[in-house]
Amino acid sequence: MSNCKMAGAAAVTYVAMWLLFLSPGSTEARVKKPYQPLTMKVPYYILPIIGYNMSDLEPYITEKTIFAHYLGHHAAYQSKMNAALSEWKKEEPDNKFAEESIFEIIKRLDEVPEKYRTSIGNQGGGFLNHGIYFGCMSPNPANVTRTPSGKLLKDITSTFGSFEAFKEKFTQQAATLFGSGYVWLVRKSFDADAELAIVTTANQDSPITQGMMPLLVIDVWEHAYYLKHEFRRVKYIDDWWSVVDWVNVLQMEGFFGSPEKWTMISGTNSRRMNCEQY
Ligand SMILES: [Fe+2]
Repeated sequence: MSNCKMAGAAAVTYVAMWLLFLSPGSTEARVKKPYQPLTMKVPYYILPIIGYNMSDLEPYITEKTIFAHYLGHHAAYQSKMNAALSEWKKEEPDNKFAEESIFEIIKRLDEVPEKYRTSIGNQGGGFLNHGIYFGCMSPNPANVTRTPSGKLLKDITSTFGSFEAFKEKFTQQAATLFGSGYVWLVRKSFDADAELAIVTTANQDSPITQGMMPLLVIDVWEHAYYLKHEFRRVKYIDDWWSVVDWVNVLQMEGFFGSPEKWTMISGTNSRRMNCEQY
């Protein structure tokens, strides 16, 4: 096959793949959670789709905040990460590692050539961390009390004493983290039975680079809350607990534990972020 035909076939395949993933309401395979595209090997990452509208997390996280956070900050990481990956691939066309998923690249960041490591770590980390952050939340208009269940609850209880004790420790870490960063509930390895821990990361560092499996994360960069909560980070954390979705967290644990099984799943009732009105 000529180079031209190969490029054409690759382009058709790529477009068809994204159309398949993006078809709203389809029962075909599609992206259901914003962290799922992270494990895909694609030449260009689109902004992951969030399963709720920008106003749906009101009154806890405001529409203006999600607008700026998702279409502003997350989109900027997406764009700059694509540019950094593209430059790396262009300069090292034979480097197969550059074609891996962003999940795999961030996981093995120390193998990225030094020239690109900082930019890919920052921009790719930002892209990945935000995908997980938006995936942990869902609307909770009735402010129903939400708690984890099953094995995760059992592990939280055995590690921290109780769910309330875990929540208090996590909140305290989020309230006191200096500067910009994240607080995570992780497993200490990519093993479903690995010990749980609360860890913090600075800037756009990811626990994935440290070999830890992310389960739950709060973004405590000021852009995550300042439009509503201003300097009141503790109030933001309190509001954020209302929109944490433990079903999503459990799904994420299964996903990151064996992402090869989850790259494509059957979509049913997730809604697409409605960007057309903006
Ligand atoms: Fe953020």
